[in-house]
Amino acid sequence: MVQSFVQRRVADLRASIDRWNHEYYVLDQPTVTDAEYDAAMRELRELESAHPELLTPESPTQRVGAAATTGFAEIVHPRPMLSLSNVFSREELLAWAQRALRLSGANRLAFVTEPKIDGLAVALTYVDGIFHHGATRGDGTTGDDISANLRTVRAIPLQLRNQNGHIPGVIEVRGELYMRKDDFARLNDGITAAGGKAFMNPRNAAAGSVRQKDPSITAGRPLRFISYGIGYIERGQTPPTHAAALELLRGYDFEASPGAECWDDIDRVWEACEIWQARRHDLPYEIDGVVIKVDDLRQQEEIGYVAREPRWATAYKFPAIQQTTVVENIVINVGRTGSLNPLAHLRPVNIGGVTVGRATLHNEDEVARKDIRIGDTVVVQRAGDVIPQIVKVIEERRPADAQPWRMPEHCPSCGQPAFRELGEAMRYCTNATCPAQRKERIHHFISRGAMDIAGLGEKLADRFVDLGLIRDVADIYTLDWEAIAELDGLGTTSAANLRKAVEAAKDRPLWRLIHGLGIRHVGERTARLLADRFASLDALMNASSDEIGAISGIGPIIAKATAEFFQEPPNRDLVQRLQAAGVKTADGRDGASGAWLHGCTVVLTGRLDTMTRPEAEERLRQAGANITSSVSKKTSLVVAGEDAGSKAAKARELKVPVVDERGLITLLSGEMALAEVLAAASEQREA
Ligand code: IVH
Repeated sequence: MVQSFVQRRVADLRASIDRWNHEYYVLDQPTVTDAEYDAAMRELRELESAHPELLTPESPTQRVGAAATTGFAEIVHPRPMLSLSNVFSREELLAWAQRALRLSGANRLAFVTEPKIDGLAVALTYVDGIFHHGATRGDGTTGDDISANLRTVRAIPLQLRNQNGHIPGVIEVRGELYMRKDDFARLNDGITAAGGKAFMNPRNAAAGSVRQKDPSITAGRPLRFISYGIGYIERGQTPPTHAAALELLRGYDFEASPGAECWDDIDRVWEACEIWQARRHDLPYEIDGVVIKVDDLRQQEEIGYVAREPRWATAYKFPAIQQTTVVENIVINVGRTGSLNPLAHLRPVNIGGVTVGRATLHNEDEVARKDIRIGDTVVVQRAGDVIPQIVKVIEERRPADAQPWRMPEHCPSCGQPAFRELGEAMRYCTNATCPAQRKERIHHFISRGAMDIAGLGEKLADRFVDLGLIRDVADIYTLDWEAIAELDGLGTTSAANLRKAVEAAKDRPLWRLIHGLGIRHVGERTARLLADRFASLDALMNASSDEIGAISGIGPIIAKATAEFFQEPPNRDLVQRLQAAGVKTADGRDGASGAWLHGCTVVLTGRLDTMTRPEAEERLRQAGANITSSVSKKTSLVVAGEDAGSKAAKARELKVPVVDERGLITLLSGEMALAEVLAAASEQREA
């Protein structure tokens, strides 16, 4: 077919823009000015809008970001995404190599060293060379479908460059999504200038940016991608070595493990580790170690895996980064449970590119054990994204008048006595009306993981508490909206929007409400189990600690804390007030038959964590499902636990929806109809 002028022009523009993106984001060698780039984009956009039939999803104009979504579908990784064992010294590295050699049965091994970039792992799937979908690592088995967001990342080709005539049918490329140090600093400057909250470090910034529900926000974030391996290839040849895989990826236009080198002597490997360590601060991105992999892919398979880690690879982790600084003050934060948490205010110090001004002190015994005093010079350590810690005091530099620190015996927020029980590390403020606790409890209740009240942020909630408009979480639902519309900076529209958000949050699934109540030890997972078993707050409130403890996955401590919580009159009163305000406190289930999975054929595969297989089968049956053992076109749903094998693969082949254990729990709770679960699963398939 003869190409029209327009078709040729569109193809040329796309090829140029793709090349310029590659030069800029992958090779770091731009060859055009911003003005030229913008002009080409503009022309392409105009041509595409005049000729919509020429538009394809791979066009560089399509990176700007699709419509916002409410959540991410889950993707079960066809091959699990593994993690790496660590070595911290030359000796440990040698021992690792010895074992690899022994397991390989060979008499020597070649190794590849590459930087361990500090970002987040993602898997990109290309079908016939076209970007098809991309997912986070998640728990290694199931990740989130973040395709729309990944499309906006210019270092990720939307179409593989076919320079040597061969593109596999399916290829899954694995690598690290990250942000460069300078891009990170610029992004944070912009955020803080606009009054927003800065990200802690480039890793958090990258993770936060790619988990946006609105891809147009991701599109504005300076994300990069470096590939470090191939997950799998279908209908195509797998390269024989890791080094060859990296070359193949580079040929497709990916940046692939920069500075990767191949060695046939473990002493050279160690030298390479030391060189990376010495250079780490000069690199444009943060690295927290060096990954060492056996080069030969057949030998990799010989050497094998243990649990969720390959034995053919390991990471040399750099020693934690330490700095000295001065403790300017020790303050107490009151937690939601009333715990008094000591926190050190430090003279700000830069540790590995991050400014550190606070360090957690855990509890009073910890402060006493390390004898940390106000005015002390201390060694502070930041390891990965862990909260900075004080390693030790440099006693020689202690001011003469520094006094040992003592935990206050009164709550700094409400002034009431704080108690420490025998055997407890923490001291607690037991005043139920303590404003600091109130605020923390309300923050927890409205948070994304609990009742998820969009529009009511922590600051606004604090303001309502300070104004006496909210005393506890039930008051949120009976707010005086007229009074709120009168508040400075709010007005009728904001008040009306907020009211809508609050109304919408009356109808959340039961587990969210249970989680939001802030019962000690009851996180999301336990809350789901409780909602699943009891189906209403009334039933849970009247359950004994034994009944609660009988749930698989809930131990005696959690059971006791839960039962005790609901014995407390103020808590029972709170629940009643929530009910009176119209908050839904029971999960709607198909009451008539109690069989909301009626007619549904389910196959279970893989290991489950929160229940046994027979238990899961029993509960599915009670909900009306048929259980079968093999996957066919007639299967409605496959539940894939840990290490699910061929059945999950078969399901994907037959396009049967697959859910993980979390999906199963949702399904059993009756909180989401089967149709909704299936819709979510099919959305995931089509993405
Ligand atoms: S290989 C087979 N290579 O480190 C092992 N991982 O703890 C799978 N990472 O989740 C990973 N740079 O996010 C590998 N060159 C590299 C890496 C790398 C960073 C991260 C990755 C993974 C974690 C493993």
